Amino acid sequence: MKWRRALLAGSATVVLGVLGFLAYAYESPIDPVDRPSADSFAPELVEKGRILAAAGDCETCHSAPGRPRFSGGLGLPTPFGVLYTTNITPDPQYGIGRWSKEAFRRAMREGVRRDGAHLYPGFPYTAYKNVTESDIDAIYAYLMTQEPVAMDPPENGIIFPFNYRFFQAGWKLLFFDPAPLTVDPSKSKQWNRGAYLAEGLGHCSACHSPRNLLGAEKQGGDRYTGALVEGWYAPALNGDTGSPLPWSKDELYSYLRTGASPLHGVAAGPMAPVISDGLAQQSDADIEALATYFADLADAPEQVDEQTIVEALQSTRAPSLSELASRGKTLFEAGCIACHYNEPDKAPNILRPELALNTAVTGPNPSTLIQAILNGVNKPHGHPDIFMPGYASSLTDEDIAAIAAYLHETYATPIGAISPAWADLAGTTKALRTENTEKQHRQAEAAQ
Ligand code: HEC
Ligand code: HEC
Ligand code: HEC
Repeated sequence: MKWRRALLAGSATVVLGVLGFLAYAYESPIDPVDRPSADSFAPELVEKGRILAAAGDCETCHSAPGRPRFSGGLGLPTPFGVLYTTNITPDPQYGIGRWSKEAFRRAMREGVRRDGAHLYPGFPYTAYKNVTESDIDAIYAYLMTQEPVAMDPPENGIIFPFNYRFFQAGWKLLFFDPAPLTVDPSKSKQWNRGAYLAEGLGHCSACHSPRNLLGAEKQGGDRYTGALVEGWYAPALNGDTGSPLPWSKDELYSYLRTGASPLHGVAAGPMAPVISDGLAQQSDADIEALATYFADLADAPEQVDEQTIVEALQSTRAPSLSELASRGKTLFEAGCIACHYNEPDKAPNILRPELALNTAVTGPNPSTLIQAILNGVNKPHGHPDIFMPGYASSLTDEDIAAIAAYLHETYATPIGAISPAWADLAGTTKALRTENTEKQHRQAEAAQ
């Protein structure tokens, strides 16, 4: 009879556990309100909200090509299927028109929908939880005064069992600490402002930190060590970039302010809208604060002098090349060198792009380099004169692999010391082409 009692006790524990989890997972709905009229918000508050919403990249994610702004429909590929952004216009039926300020605050800081359902962390509430109530209220005022759009995003493609939203409560239990960021009194006011922007609306770690198997950002020493996003590589921001020349605070400022650093390259991939739609709206003082925060994180110098730059340039030349890379050298000299004529005894300028110091070339992952070759670089923010053609139709996967091998072997030398060797470059190029095509298809579908 003993085993029966044990079984009974065991089942009781499981039932209690399930009931406990369900009680924990339950979030109450917040009553709908009548859509607040646009003129109930002070114009200054709305303007403040506009700038803050830009800092949070709300429009970048909640808009999709061919759809009105803020109406959602952008498909984010996740390991569990495609997640579509929602309509956050004040439409009462399809958008958030009937959400109260309280419901909006709860979504931003706890990742819970007005009806009590849990939101997926593809929505970076894990960072927005650090945003102050008054800043969130300003964003609410801004969104509520936008044009309502009566349009649904496409159906999510999240696989079973993750399509059951209440499981997200378990995810939160494991990976989400709702406590907001606190001021670090040992650091300057500027540093703390930078931390607030980076860890809050800027959600920089959402892209620059690697994630675990369940999609949660890794913590501790793994934060800001670089990660793949949307087929591009977001480099490490902790100083460990693989570039033979460290970033300086001045270069960080120039990159975050204008989208380009003469020494390290341009924002051409997912970082481009972060700058052109988001950071471009922020004050110089706030960009300075971000540069201060990340310079400290990376233990970066204030500036680097000409001598250090020239030494870094001269330190990177491979003594011998693999067969693949030799073929790449010929291709590079035929097709690329007209613009990329590097002179290792001179500090580079932005129109004569030096690739020796660029993390896309020297870093641990080839994706950004391959994407730059496939897509080119088209007039990044603030640099209407910068243009590089895309080679998707003129170079094969093998050609691109050879060029990538050439650049990496040449500039990340000695291989293994600053950055690992790159493997299967043709396969990666093929996979990235497929990923780019799928993205175009998703966008075409969402636009209908
Ligand atoms: C990285 C992309 C991304 C960014 C940036 C982003 N969102 Fe979202 N957001 C999403 C996704 C994806 C969802 C849907 C999540 C789900 O279905 O669980 C979402 C859902 C929401 C919801 C819930 C709406 C609903 O009807 O369920 C609100 C509110 C929201 N976002 C507001 C914002 C605001 C405000 C900003 C800017 C401060 C912002 N989002 C920035 C991806 C993003
Ligand atoms: C949507 C994802 C995303 C977000 C959010 C994001 N980044 Fe990036 N970042 C990238 C990617 C991808 C690159 C690689 C270059 C590119 O996109 O052209 C990059 C490049 C950079 C670089 C250049 C690094 C190098 O070594 O070349 C810096 C500096 C940077 N980001 C800082 C930031 C800061 C600061 C924030 C927050 C305010 C931020 N990023 C938010 C994706 C992101
Ligand atoms: C018409 C001139 C031109 C040609 C031809 C050209 N490039 Fe570029 N390339 C540029 C410019 C301009 C930039 C942007 C400035 C920078 O990154 O410093 C750039 C940037 C890059 C980057 C860095 C992208 C980033 O994210 O920072 C890589 C890598 C690159 N080019 C590789 C190549 C390769 C490989 C070829 C030949 C297949 C090539 N380029 C041909 C002008 C050119």
